[in-house]
Amino acid sequence: MRVLVTGGSGFIGSNFIRYVLTEHPDDRIVNLDKLTYAGNPANLADFEHDARYAFVHGDIADAELVGDVARGVDAIVNFAAPSHVDRSILDADEFLRTNVLGVRVLLDAVRTLGVPRLLHVSTDEVYGSIATGAATEASPLRPSNPYSAAKAGGDLLALAYWNTHGVPVVVTRSSNNFGPYQYPEKLIPLFITNALESQPLPVYGDGLQVRDWIYVLDNCAAIDLVLRAGRDGEVYNIAGGHEVANATVTREILRWLGKPESLIQMVADRPGHDRRYALDATKLARLGWAPRYPFASALESTVRWYREHDAWWRPLKSGDFRAYYARQYGRR
Ligand code: NAD
Ligand code: TYD
Repeated sequence: MRVLVTGGSGFIGSNFIRYVLTEHPDDRIVNLDKLTYAGNPANLADFEHDARYAFVHGDIADAELVGDVARGVDAIVNFAAPSHVDRSILDADEFLRTNVLGVRVLLDAVRTLGVPRLLHVSTDEVYGSIATGAATEASPLRPSNPYSAAKAGGDLLALAYWNTHGVPVVVTRSSNNFGPYQYPEKLIPLFITNALESQPLPVYGDGLQVRDWIYVLDNCAAIDLVLRAGRDGEVYNIAGGHEVANATVTREILRWLGKPESLIQMVADRPGHDRRYALDATKLARLGWAPRYPFASALESTVRWYREHDAWWRPLKSGDFRAYYARQYGRR
């Protein structure tokens, strides 16, 4: 299979490319990535000289470029997106441009070039906060922050192109990922790297917000399965099946690192903070998928990865990153 991966230099995309080239050694991948602050060529340094892999620097909203790189591929898998809720609260512009208009460009390319499949990577956040039970693929979308609203726009547009034009799309909506190569602005890598530096761990609000965590390789396996076996026009939830409060994750990270709980700093809540996400992934299970990585051991190996790869994350935590957080919370 010849696959165009977009946003492949980020966290999940780079893990996905490594997963596909390992599991399907005959596949070929072209990675189109804009290399925003979150895109890092170092994430795929091991494939730099691999003839099965090619990198193209560019934007999914660039229709001419997308037309060039998408010609002749068997499928497109779209990971490209600004992905951090806190940044979308500060400025939503780039979120709408890439997550809605960029998706539109990909859909039109698939339509005009006759690409056989577009897998669009969406998120559980499009369902919004869920007090009890779990969202199925038929649940209403109630996104409640600029990031999730933009993701819902791209997700619904993909389904609209299937309905209107017969464009062959499949959509995945996964829960919160963690694992190696995640930019140290998201909860788990931020807290691991802060703890390693004996810096405060800023827990928003009361810390009792619940997320359903999935190890990134479980998500990659699910996306790969949906890519090859999913049905056109369908949505597939991908759930880790491990719901846990942020305060609990925080204490577990400190415990794995042997660091004191006095590093926990309760800070002002995120505006519009969703209380709980929960997914029903029965439909994906029927396709033959089940998560393979238990949360506790996956968290332990993630902590170990960051401990052993400080040359990867230290440069990312200087300058812009610290200034950004200082501007937002003014406490550090
Ligand atoms: P990330 O921020 O680590 O990586 C995003 C990548 O997209 C970067 O390499 C960036 O350079 C690239 N990119 C951004 N805008 C682009 C553009 N206009 N054109 C080309 N490339 C562009 O994000 P991630 O955590 O790997 O998430 C990947 C996808 O998975 C996103 O669509 C996100 O919404 C979705 N998702 C993430 C999670 C999670 O927990 N991280 C959960 C569910 C869904
Ligand atoms: P995050 O990793 O930003 O993912 P998302 O908002 O997409 O779920 O945040 C996960 C949870 O952790 C969320 O409830 C917000 C919370 N959080 C903190 O308490 N402190 C932090 O510094 C960050 C980044 C997140």
